[in-house]
Amino acid sequence: MSIDISARFSGLTLSSCLFNASGPRCTSSGELLELYNSKAGAVLSKSATPGFRVGNPKPRYFENQFGSLNSMGLPNEGIESYISIAAQLSNKAYIVSIAGLSKSDNMQMLRRLQKSGQAVDAVELNLSCPNVPGKAQIGYDFDSTKALLEEVFQVFDGKLGVKLPPYFDMIHFEQMAAILKAFPIAFVTCVNSIGNALIVDAESESVVIRPKSGFGGLGGDYLKPTGLANVRQFYKRLPGIPVIGVGGVKTGLDAFEYILCGATAIQVGSQLMREGIDCFERIAFELKTLMKTKGYKKLSQFRGKLKDG
Ligand code: DHB
Repeated sequence: MSIDISARFSGLTLSSCLFNASGPRCTSSGELLELYNSKAGAVLSKSATPGFRVGNPKPRYFENQFGSLNSMGLPNEGIESYISIAAQLSNKAYIVSIAGLSKSDNMQMLRRLQKSGQAVDAVELNLSCPNVPGKAQIGYDFDSTKALLEEVFQVFDGKLGVKLPPYFDMIHFEQMAAILKAFPIAFVTCVNSIGNALIVDAESESVVIRPKSGFGGLGGDYLKPTGLANVRQFYKRLPGIPVIGVGGVKTGLDAFEYILCGATAIQVGSQLMREGIDCFERIAFELKTLMKTKGYKKLSQFRGKLKDG
């Protein structure tokens, strides 16, 4: 099938537009190597903090037929581990996600990444972790986001994208887009989970995950319409900045819808957790099959071209 689903953005070349969302199956070196050896078009790390974290108590991940609820609490190996593995991931785009618990944590990691030179191909700055008790999602605080980005670009001159929380109001899309426009952002990833959702098990009359009284980030099918909306909004408001779509991608059809909305590349979260790394080959095959049926040979023929007039 001579159908091209490659993606290029910010100087990165991905043989497939599909890769992992930060979160599932990308925490340990072993998991990152598995992603590297899979059909994923890039490798993205679990969000790093300056040091190792065990994360929240278990159970901290739940799934049902509609999606997932998680409150992992940033379990990760620490930034050094995600920098040192880069040498073993050199033939694929390797992106490190960072999610400091404070501005100074983020600045410390960015100075370290800056010093590491070209080890890492890009950084995804996570502005949207909902699961650390007592810590707000910075992406919902527009002034703090702006202040952070001002400092970020003073110390880091590599490729840096931001991972945004989902927004639900037109004024918020407008305000966040206005902030992002003022910086040399390499890409925008939309969206993180819907934070602080609650799933109830009626039989046991209980919450389904243990941390934060059961409140956690909602992903999967529950998230897809919100993800599509956020991709569409930022695609239209940030011309020239690539948007990476994430939220409820299970099939080639889901990926096609994200690209129609304007996504340059697509991340897979809940479905990667459920299915494992074989999801990348399957979804790629489904996307190519759909494109063939529709007479498309490459993504640029329909990217952003959702009929919405
Ligand atoms: C976690 C969850 C997120 O949605 C995120 O962006 C970062 C970290 C977590 O709970 O580990």
